[in-house]
Amino acid sequence: MNVLLVGSGGREHAIAWKLAQSPKLGKLYTAPGNPGTADYGKNVDIDVNDIEALVKFAQSKDVALAVIGPEDPLAAGIVDAFEAAGIKAFGPSGAAAQLEADKAFAKEIMRANSIPTAESRIFDNFPDAKAYIASRDEAVVIKAAGLAKGKGVFVCDEPADGIIAAEKIMCENLFGEAGAKVIVEEKLLGEEASILAFVDGRNIYVMETSQDHKPIGEGDTGPNTGGMGAYCPARCVTDKLMDQISAEVLVPTIDGMNREGSTFRGILYAGIMLTKGGPRVLEFNARFGDPETQPILMRMKSDLLEVMLATCMGNLDEVTLEWDERVAVCVVMASGGYPGDYEKGKKISGLEAAGKLDGVMVFHAGTAKKGDDIVTAGGRVLGVTALGDTVAEAKELAYKAVDMISFDGAYCRRDIADKAIESN
Ligand code: AMP
Ligand code: GLY
Repeated sequence: MNVLLVGSGGREHAIAWKLAQSPKLGKLYTAPGNPGTADYGKNVDIDVNDIEALVKFAQSKDVALAVIGPEDPLAAGIVDAFEAAGIKAFGPSGAAAQLEADKAFAKEIMRANSIPTAESRIFDNFPDAKAYIASRDEAVVIKAAGLAKGKGVFVCDEPADGIIAAEKIMCENLFGEAGAKVIVEEKLLGEEASILAFVDGRNIYVMETSQDHKPIGEGDTGPNTGGMGAYCPARCVTDKLMDQISAEVLVPTIDGMNREGSTFRGILYAGIMLTKGGPRVLEFNARFGDPETQPILMRMKSDLLEVMLATCMGNLDEVTLEWDERVAVCVVMASGGYPGDYEKGKKISGLEAAGKLDGVMVFHAGTAKKGDDIVTAGGRVLGVTALGDTVAEAKELAYKAVDMISFDGAYCRRDIADKAIESN
């Protein structure tokens, strides 16, 4: 079966690597892909948002399944377009993807279905938002309602900073249309976990848990990024908590979407904070997380292509998911300056030697091929991922591989997975 994978990040390299292990895979095309995905098939130079061109390409290559990585084309209805052309597509419809693309819609679904989340108010004009924030005397979290590449959330310990954030989003149009509405919510405290599940509209198959590291600096300091590293499983999510998250969050969300007439198929990713009062939803994503996918798929033993097909066809209950017992840790190597401005085109060395270490995969993200060299081409450059019998061993191996790789200005956090080690 020929597959078209849409995207070009570390997540897509991990998905390509895993799909390539399936005996069912015919040709794999990745649009636009990166030098990592090129190892498993052909990269095709089509933008992830050029839906018409992607569908045409898939038709011309006898593609039977399209796998969509990023949120923007999902929200724009890429899955609907593939299905209209008679091609199966892994991911939610445009309507169902609003669970991620419109935080105001997500809050409504949560409210209507009594799903635990932060108390919040939604505003579509700055004066009302300002008056409300000014009336609060505690920390507030300000969120652009639309898609903002993971950067649309401001956690403000002072309401005055919240007003500045709302002004940037609503008046200075920091995120364009994505900031037409803002959510003002209470600040929650606790450890965070990423809960990803395959959902076929009625069955929910939860994957192993993971934990992202969003801020740029060690000890979770500095501005948020797309994610600087992740590990799997997240020990803080006990079996009991997982049962609670399934019963209080995942099941009512899927039921609520069905009632809404927007049946959800694909990956439901709940960003959860484990507060003293129990698990609370921070956000929903409608796709695989990046970098969580890298350590999760390193541990998945089952045939990903089979599971994706079962998700599309509504028979997830007929597949099983098996997991490697080991722990996986992914350390993101980024360009110096990220998440602000950074330079591109720096030659990367040591990739081959690091990738040869037993139990290590070096997933490409923002890289490009230049002649015989691999050079940097984005903020998050590589996701160096390692397996180990313990978190400490996986971490040690991941950093051993990181230390074999170099490029001008390379930056990584040195404390990925420490929270899991401390809590052991
Ligand atoms: P989101 O994109 O909504 O997951 O938010 C990005 C990050 O902001 C989360 O991973 C949290 O660290 C933080 N965050 C979001 N909402 C809240 C909240 N209500 N309280 C505290 N931190 C939050
Ligand atoms: N790692 C966070 C995200 O994928 O949105």
